[in-house]
Amino acid sequence: MILVKLGGSVITDKGRYRTFDRETTSRLTSEIASSDEKVMIVHGAGSFGHMLAKEHRLHLGIDELSQIMGAAKVMADVRELNLEISRCMMDSGLPVVSLPPASCARMNQGKLEMLDVDLFQRYLDLNMVPLTFGDVVWDRKRGLSICSGDQLMMSLAEKFSPDKVLFITDVDGVFTGDPNMDDCARLIENVDKAVLDALPRTERNVDVTGSIYSKIQFMIDMAGRTKECLVLNGKAPGRLEAAMKGRSVIASRVVGGSI
Ligand code: IPE
Repeated sequence: MILVKLGGSVITDKGRYRTFDRETTSRLTSEIASSDEKVMIVHGAGSFGHMLAKEHRLHLGIDELSQIMGAAKVMADVRELNLEISRCMMDSGLPVVSLPPASCARMNQGKLEMLDVDLFQRYLDLNMVPLTFGDVVWDRKRGLSICSGDQLMMSLAEKFSPDKVLFITDVDGVFTGDPNMDDCARLIENVDKAVLDALPRTERNVDVTGSIYSKIQFMIDMAGRTKECLVLNGKAPGRLEAAMKGRSVIASRVVGGSI
């Protein structure tokens, strides 16, 4: 089984509220469909989630009534994005089943405490393609919190031990700096804990589900649960397909221990 995360930066324009990139997404779903492997997909929220979630401080817990309506709006927005992606998948021939985390997960202080992974298994056994996504989820201590796509990836990897885990983003992989700002930023071919510790820390681009560093830490943790964990550019046609089929591709390879 191959576990794929379509990051919010590749399926939406992260700077413009609720802007879906249909062209890129339908190409990516066709690339996924070109492989015969069983697959599960998690997608991020991008501009359908982060902006409003931050405005309503949903990542910090619920202490005002006004946040509840904000949460409902974010949930409606990410479901609209999910429906768009589901349609792209069906157009590519993938029999998708959408499994919204608010209906099959529970959180505790911002951590994913329970995900109904058996349900994913049952749909997979029917040859359907489970699709889940970053969402607002009931939280035992905070009322509600944000469940990131990365947390879902981790729970699914723990349960299914996928052959491959692919993180699809809008840059070629993990860089020594921000490739959109720094011409000298270099692609890091192999990423492990030592590499992460050596990366320069900037507090820019911290969104409601954490900084780029916490995301890479998640990937390092996940790398221990699969044979291959890659971060690659979904804006570049053909790379996802190549990775799905086990061909060599421009990407960062994430490894669990020190290289
Ligand atoms: C964010 O999920 C969920 C919400 C803001 C509701 P992710 O953290 O997985 O989304 P991206 O990939 O960064 O956009």
